[in-house]
Amino acid sequence: MKDKARIAVLVSGGGTNLQALIDAQKAGLIPHGEIVTVISNKEGAFALERAKKAGIEAVTILKSDCGSTEEFEDVIGDSLEFRKIDLIVLAGFLAVLSENFVKRFQNRIINIHPSLIPSFCGDGMYGLKVHNAALARGVKVTGATVHYVNEITDGGEIILQKAVDVLPGDTPATLQKRVMEEAEWKLLPQATEIVCQKIIKETSADEYL
Ligand code: GRF
Repeated sequence: MKDKARIAVLVSGGGTNLQALIDAQKAGLIPHGEIVTVISNKEGAFALERAKKAGIEAVTILKSDCGSTEEFEDVIGDSLEFRKIDLIVLAGFLAVLSENFVKRFQNRIINIHPSLIPSFCGDGMYGLKVHNAALARGVKVTGATVHYVNEITDGGEIILQKAVDVLPGDTPATLQKRVMEEAEWKLLPQATEIVCQKIIKETSADEYL
């Protein structure tokens, strides 16, 4: 029986959420999963350094090397299948995945979004834009959401959410920092463990069929 789900983390940038996952794994907080590879679609993303430092395989797959979006997704998908990945965690992965890709890994992809979905999410809503929109609307509470990825941007089933206060004088940058520290870095490891447990349970049930 398999005791750990094999996790791939897909990144594009600094990788603070990846770091939270690595730290949680080291602290024994993801007992049902193991990060086996980190894939970046941006050359030189600092997240790759974080992976290497933790002794995790770090791979770069560039769309510009693949030709079309379809080929790019095929290369990523084949690399994931080759590594027998059970769970794909999008941690600041700045590429929208097509319906085809999502179907290939149905219920096996999760994403972290820096707001309380369904607020401030959807196409084009990423990074500081999300916090900008929250401040412009004047909400007093925002937060982060971990959800399954389906064919609708930020539209998949919600796994965990955590609220964070918006404080007077906040800028998009100060709000982003608070949402990361108080919500994202805690929520992503917790949700990852929840989904890994579920995958392990399903795979062991399948073995008895
Ligand atoms: C985070 O705000 C995450 O919610 C969003 O992209 C950002 C990634 O930051 N999806 P990092 O690369 O993990 O530091």
